[in-house]
Order: sequence, then C-alpha cells, then structure tokens
Amino acid sequence: MKTQLFIGGEWRDGAEDGVIDVADPATGEVFAEIAAGTPADASEACDAAHEAQLAWAEVAPRDRSETLRRCWEVLMEHHTELAELIVREHGKPMADAKGEIAYAAEFFRWNAEETVRIRGTLAHAPAGANRILVHHPPVGVVVMITPWNFPAAMITRKLAPALGAGNGVVIKPPKETPLTALRIADLITEAGVPGGLVNVVPTLDSESWFDAAVDHQRVRMVSFTGSTEVGRVLLRRSADRVLKTVMELGGNAPFVVFDDADLDQAVEGAMVAKMRHSAETCTAANRFLVEAGVAAEFAARLAAAMRDVKVGSGFEDGVTCGPLINPTAVDDVDALVQGAMDAGATVELGGRRIDRPGNFYEPTVLADVAAESPIAQAEIFGPVAPIITFTDVDRMIEIANDTEMGLTGYVYTRDLGKGLAVSERIQAGMIGLNRGSVSDPAAPFGGMKQSGLGREGSTEGIYEFCETQYIATDW
Ligand code: SIN
Repeated sequence: MKTQLFIGGEWRDGAEDGVIDVADPATGEVFAEIAAGTPADASEACDAAHEAQLAWAEVAPRDRSETLRRCWEVLMEHHTELAELIVREHGKPMADAKGEIAYAAEFFRWNAEETVRIRGTLAHAPAGANRILVHHPPVGVVVMITPWNFPAAMITRKLAPALGAGNGVVIKPPKETPLTALRIADLITEAGVPGGLVNVVPTLDSESWFDAAVDHQRVRMVSFTGSTEVGRVLLRRSADRVLKTVMELGGNAPFVVFDDADLDQAVEGAMVAKMRHSAETCTAANRFLVEAGVAAEFAARLAAAMRDVKVGSGFEDGVTCGPLINPTAVDDVDALVQGAMDAGATVELGGRRIDRPGNFYEPTVLADVAAESPIAQAEIFGPVAPIITFTDVDRMIEIANDTEMGLTGYVYTRDLGKGLAVSERIQAGMIGLNRGSVSDPAAPFGGMKQSGLGREGSTEGIYEFCETQYIATDW
C-alpha cells in the first residue's frame, strides 16, 4: 500500500505534525495512515510537473499515445487489486468497484486514441490575402482536485486527456480515499509515465494547499470534480490568476416516467440511476417525476426492487449497496428524509439509518413528495428515491428545471418523439432516454447551469487541456 506523497517521481514523507487517517466506512475503523502534504509540498509538486512537462510536450503524439495505452493495460492487469482498495476506502460493492476500474482504465484507452487526433485548422482569411492557421498546444501545468465517490475514475477522466495533450499534473486526492490515487500514480509510472509528470499530494489543509498551487506561476489550469459550493470557491480563487477551469459540479437529476413507459425497463433504469456506486454519484436520479396513471404502480415496483437491495460491506457477497462515506453523510440524508416526511411524504420503504457499525442507511422510497420540499432541491447522495406525481407535461418540465443544477436527466417513454422533445426541454448536460446510465468515456460528460463548466471525455475532453493558438500566415 502506498502511503507517502508522490512528488518529482519519488515517494517521500509528509509533514511531521499530521497524518491522514483513512477509515473503512463499513466499520468506522481507521486502517491506514497517509502522509499529509503541506503547501510547500504542493508548490514543489508544481515545480516538478513543470520541469517534466517541458520534455513531455516534445514527445511525439504517437509515443504519448502508446504510453497512455500501456496505462490502460497496467490498470486492467491490476483490476482486482485496485477494486479491493476502492472497496476498502470508499465502501462501494465489489461489482461497482470492478466496474469503476474498467471505466477508469478506459479513459486511458480512449484518450490514447484521441492523443493522435488533436486537430488544428487552416483557413483562407475572408479577405483572401493570408491564411489562418490554428493549432492546440498543451496548457502546461494542471492542478486536479478529485472527489471520493469515484476514487479512480474521477482521476483518470482528467489525467488521461491532460497527459495525452502534453501537460504536467498535480493531483490533490480527497482525504477520504487517497490510497487509490497513490496506487494509480505508482502503476502508471510502471507503465512509462515519466517521473515528475504526475504528482499526488494528499493534504489535511485543502485551502492552503490550493492557495499555494494557484499562486504558483507555472500553474495554468484547475480541473475539479465535487460540490457546487466548493467549485464556486475554487473558481473565485482561480480568477486571481485567470486560470483556465473545468468544473464538474453537483446534480439534481429529474427521472421522468410517462404513463406509456415500459415499467419494467423504467424500474430497472431507476435502480441503476439511483443506486449505482451506493447512490453516491452526481448523476444520480434525485427526483422521480411520475405521470399520475402509473405513479402508484411505479412506486410499488420501485419499492419492491429497493427491498431486494442487500446493504452491507462492499466485500460481502451479494451486497449491492455499501455504506455512505462518513457519519455526517448519514445525518444529512436522514435530515432530508425526515424533512420530506414532515412535509407530508409517505414512506413506501425504509426511512431510517441502519443500527449497526458503519455508515449505513436503509434503501428508501418516498411517495407523494411535494415539488417544493427541501429533498427536491438538495443533492441527496444516498439511497433515497422521492416520487413526485405529475399530470401536466408543462408543469412537469417546470418542476424538472426548477433547480440551479443541470447535470443529468432521465426520461422513460415508449414514444421516442415525445422522449426526444422532452429531453430537449430539460436543462441538463446529459439525458438518459430509456437508459439509467449516461456515463461513457466516449461521451461528453458535464453540466449546464451551476452543474459545471466544460466537458470531460469524448472528443471535447482532450481539447479542454489545450490552448488555442492562431498564426496569421502570409505565404
Ligand atoms: C460523479 O458522480 O461525479 C461521476 C459519475 C460518473 O462518471 O458516472
């Protein structure tokens, strides 16, 4: 298990006066102590990333691409080991952890293919005298701040395109799940990523760490995945040096079920959209908007599917929902559920924390939830499905869009024309139309409104880590 800081291609100890305790969310027991980096460590990591980046940017795209492909192979060779690490520090079920590693590794394979296809353009100037030549050099040094809900994939979704485009990187993983980040750095070094190009510096003092990184003259970009609240703070601070930013922030996804939907398919999709990765995803279905004709039937079927969820440690056989990340997360989810009940929601299933060690909450289905209730405005990040019944499509769209978030939406109907029309009216960067999952390295992941800026994955993802330079050319 790697527990030191990774700076300049070397493993080293952190500050003497602090270590990061990593606890198993299924028991609450601390099982690892990790070196905590200081602002000075962050700054040194930026120096190292800059030095290494100068050489890396000169490496031929084909060779950078081959290195990325080798990273994909090495991560897949260590699939089980990495999944076990994720279950240990995050708590998600083993099947989800294995799925996450495949997803995480795929960002390397996908971006290996994109690395050799970073295109510029050449155009005649309209006046005819000269040419407009446009190309895309790397940004330089990129700071990445990553969340605990996907300890591997939210790193590789940024890291792979950043490296493909020719950048150097400094990563601040979350203090809850730093072990996967450190092991990934170790493995990609084995795969051929040059020392110093990727640095991993966990910390207990995120604010000072970030200040040091933003103030470092070589840093040119910040890529963040996490809450909108923290994203706003990082955006303000990044503005001091006019840094480029990509922000993947919170969600509040509506999951719309029309009367004509295939209900088996809708319930199956609802379970994926709500429960994957222990219901701790920013793409999670947060509000179920169900047309009146099928509302009771959908609620009963969803409750039956949620009743079959086995809650427990991600290592236990058959478990499909692990613990939440920490005790505060359980308190937050419980407060939202109690608030919804006080506002008149009826409990179809669950509605309580589970009385056992670890951070467990019962899979919960709430019917007759008021559209104005706090649970419909907050990002739940737990196994709770609030159902709101609708009769009028325009009113349903109003409710769906009555949020500052705009990451994901889901629509279930057998009428594809209606499904597409409604999808277009939902203000969200990603829509699952008769699908409960939108995540795919080949698709542009990102939000509208306060859910973020920029896109990750797809073809756009790699250009986020590039500058645009135009050369006015006379031949
Ligand atoms: C997230 O929850 O931040 C990402 C979800 C995903 O990529 O599927």
